[in-house]
Amino acid sequence: MAAEKNKYTVLISEEEISRRVKELGEQISSEYSGKEILLICTLKGAVIFASDLARSIKVPCELGFIKAKSYAGDHTTGSVDINFEDIPDIKGRHIIIVEDIIDTGLTLKKLSEYFWAKGPASMKICAFLDKPSRRKVDIKADYAGFEIEDHFVVGYGLDHNERFRNLPFIAKL
Ligand code: IMP
Ligand code: MG
Repeated sequence: MAAEKNKYTVLISEEEISRRVKELGEQISSEYSGKEILLICTLKGAVIFASDLARSIKVPCELGFIKAKSYAGDHTTGSVDINFEDIPDIKGRHIIIVEDIIDTGLTLKKLSEYFWAKGPASMKICAFLDKPSRRKVDIKADYAGFEIEDHFVVGYGLDHNERFRNLPFIAKL
């Protein structure tokens, strides 16, 4: 890791992340009071955010996972590969799709259309990061951790060619 030290600049610190994730958990807990949530985590990028978020939610919460891929290195391929296997039953459930970052919005558009067609009782989107300036389709997060400018970022689950996911903060390359 030492050799990589100067290759990135910290954009959002571990402390800021921890504070914001707790706030999101409190907001979700109060809005879903008396209900049960199915959190659907998109792999791999959202796995660290979803783990922290799930622990800051105080209402009953099930975790599901889906695999989505649209990036190669630091650029979007423009097409979204989604592995729809192993999705828990969604009909009648209150689902929250948990994403690491909304960039063009293509991934979430595809996922939300797919899930909505399965008849959930409600569906919301929770994204850790949001890059609104990059949007190609009309998708908004119901819950967003931080809005950022158009930088390629890594850490807290986000990668560049599978590296940097384990950084506890968000950094720009
Ligand atoms: P979208 O479909 O263009 O909104 O892209 C969403 C996916 O691309 C995210 O879930 C990430 O996995 C990946 N992605 C977008 N921007 C970044 C970034 O700055 N760093 C790392 N991954 C990113
Ligand atoms: Mg993702």
